[in-house]
Amino acid sequence: MSKLKTLEDFFIEELKDLYSAEKQLLKALPKMAKAADSPELKEAFQNHLSETEAQVGRLEKISGNLGKTLTGKKCKAMEGLIEEGKEVIEQDAVPVVKDAALIAAAQKVEHYEIASYGCAATYAKLLNNNKVESLLRETLEEEGNADKTLTQIAENINVEALEGAETE
Ligand SMILES: [Fe+2]
Ligand SMILES: [Fe+2]
Repeated sequence: MSKLKTLEDFFIEELKDLYSAEKQLLKALPKMAKAADSPELKEAFQNHLSETEAQVGRLEKISGNLGKTLTGKKCKAMEGLIEEGKEVIEQDAVPVVKDAALIAAAQKVEHYEIASYGCAATYAKLLNNNKVESLLRETLEEEGNADKTLTQIAENINVEALEGAETE
């Protein structure tokens, strides 16, 4: 990576990181949906997959707006979070306990995205780019809602998981 001279340089690096993160998630979310036992959780993952497709589209719009390409960087954090999600998918577990673990893995992803989009939206604001800022805030809101949905679904699943195999 060349020397970062301004916040704008770092902003572009962060957008590249996000673009990679979302692209990786596009591949991981269908696997999470497939591994989920609860129909509600499956649906939440599928819904977030379509949102993620739109989020990739927004980043591409941002790329066009800024005249910068966002390819060529790998988000290592997302790679690690997805790797942990894969461990959950492959783990031998009572279905409801696996669902609880899938929710935990997914919420870690959402929180990473919330932090990244939150920072990026702040930078866009400081750079006086309203268009890019609003595109980033749109996604930030979706990530927040995805996280809240998971919290809601977890309310029942975690309680059922307390009982574990007894309810199988
Ligand atoms: Fe996302
Ligand atoms: Fe997300």
